[in-house]
Amino acid sequence: MNEQHPQVPNWVSIGHISDIAPLGCRRVKRPEGVEGAEVAVFRANGDRIFAVLDKCPHKGGPLSQGMVFGETVACPLHNWNFSLSTGLVQSPDEGQVRTFQVKTQDQEIFLDRNELMLPDAQFV
Ligand code: FES
Repeated sequence: MNEQHPQVPNWVSIGHISDIAPLGCRRVKRPEGVEGAEVAVFRANGDRIFAVLDKCPHKGGPLSQGMVFGETVACPLHNWNFSLSTGLVQSPDEGQVRTFQVKTQDQEIFLDRNELMLPDAQFV
């Protein structure tokens, strides 16, 4: 995470779409000094990119290790299914994982530095 978006300074590059396997995930560290879990950046069907906190709201499972199908990820610990776009868990379970905005330009993926700076505690 280092290069800035050419037109929007607060957006930082975290790599290219091809860096993530189809239906795979890449973990991104938070900026130094920020208290929070890593961010799980997923490459879903159709090369759609989503970013969520890599910490399941149920019992902290690593969503980055979950199975992706469509635009959903299944937590590897107890199989709760989360929408990658809204963060909402599918019924009958209840909960929501924090999501992060994503921009892509010319196959490059950008996350919003301001969002990355917000500690997780503000979203509990
Ligand atoms: S920790 Fe994710 S479903 Fe339980």
